[in-house]
Amino acid sequence: MTYLGFDLGTSGLRALLIDDGGHPVASAEAHYHTSHPHPGWSEQDAGAWTDAASTVMAQLQASHPKAVAAIQSIGVSGHMHGATLVGDDGEVLRPCILWNDTRSHAEAAKLDALPEMRAISGNIVFPGFTAPKLLWVKKHEPKIFERISKVLLPAAYMNFWLTGDAFADMSDSAGTSWLDTGARDWSDTLLSHGAMRVDQMPRLVEGCEIGGTLRPELAKVWGIKGNPSVVGGAGDNAAAASGIGAIGAGTGFVSLGTSGVLMVARDDYCPDPATAVHTFCHALPSRWYQMGVILAATDSLNWVSNVMDARPDQLSALLGDALSGPSDLRFLPYLSGERTPHNDSAIRGAFLNLDIAHTRADLVQAVMEGVAFALADCKFSLQQTGAEFDQIFAIGGGARSEIWVQMLATILDMPLHLPKDGEFGAAIGAARLAMIGATGADPETVLTKPETARVITPQKDLVEAYAQAHHAYRKTYAIMKELP
Ligand code: XUL
Repeated sequence: MTYLGFDLGTSGLRALLIDDGGHPVASAEAHYHTSHPHPGWSEQDAGAWTDAASTVMAQLQASHPKAVAAIQSIGVSGHMHGATLVGDDGEVLRPCILWNDTRSHAEAAKLDALPEMRAISGNIVFPGFTAPKLLWVKKHEPKIFERISKVLLPAAYMNFWLTGDAFADMSDSAGTSWLDTGARDWSDTLLSHGAMRVDQMPRLVEGCEIGGTLRPELAKVWGIKGNPSVVGGAGDNAAAASGIGAIGAGTGFVSLGTSGVLMVARDDYCPDPATAVHTFCHALPSRWYQMGVILAATDSLNWVSNVMDARPDQLSALLGDALSGPSDLRFLPYLSGERTPHNDSAIRGAFLNLDIAHTRADLVQAVMEGVAFALADCKFSLQQTGAEFDQIFAIGGGARSEIWVQMLATILDMPLHLPKDGEFGAAIGAARLAMIGATGADPETVLTKPETARVITPQKDLVEAYAQAHHAYRKTYAIMKELP
């Protein structure tokens, strides 16, 4: 028997097959394009996702026909918050408006000002969330709005394409601003504030619960013998948490990806929207998770590497092997605005204290520190909700820079676990949710943690100096905000 996980990411789709023991068997990847027709807009064609799925399945079928034939169940992880609008005949009405699209910031602010929105959804209505996108479509594309039969998140759209049924999991649905996150159900009140109806929503299932069956046409084309089930799946952060075994309170990860995430699992529901922390359902029943999200983590390093015409790893190497203590140069990583803790899509980044003596290495150090300080802001916000951090893994492309992880461990003042090479991302999380759905296995035995290759501990002699530098960093947002 095998289980298939699809990881529908912002830049491409990855498929991963695992065996009965939960071990990877084969994987394949295909990429697609994001279009930015206007500043702040970010869209993808849902057809590009399904084309990518067909491509990767053809690759897997060619390379591992037996493993593909034995697929029992499928799980999809998707980038969150996107609005895929589907008409009566299942046709897609316009390109999907993505999580990093900020066109609906005015609608978000309007919704967020209604006290019930935060009270019921447990979250700020951020401009990237789904509900404000639909108010934007209502205003600017009324003809399309009238034709909407279903609004599907990217993972839910994949579920729909795979099965013909519209269903979505709780973890992803919590990012719409239409879900009562504590009750794990659509809220009529939130939907009516967003000019939506419950019949336009997909059926809700838990991430590890079976939602439908693969369409026989697809099973035939892909050479699958039985009738695989498709589980609810998850939003990418809950899927990544499932992949790294972050399901029990206090376990989580810090991810240095395009955006940066500090995520921790919670056994209970403890929303505190004022902190700008995200409180979402986990992919397992009766569990939640919380995270602080910063919008430019490796994006900040990539930006400086483009400007300096050098690769990020070359820039990281400029800092040597050991931390030397905080820079007097400050970098504010708000290159695309910020979510946690500021909820400010208009703020932009800065270098402060530039001196004629500053070098390339100083600028790079300041950028890495700025990202780490922003993640320390997330830790502070999470602690305000009562979150605790027992075991945190460092993941994402940026975690390949050892000096950056060392800096992050020191600034967060917490040990960070570097997982041993292998699979621990959203694709294996989704495949494992599929396995739980099909077999009824105990999630604790399936969603296990990877082996820790190394624990990077805070550099104790620098913790205090970095705490003071973080204190100074925290004052800079207000100053930037004042600028005309
Ligand atoms: C989470 C978020 C991103 C996306 C894209 O709130 O917006 O992490 O899921 O990966």
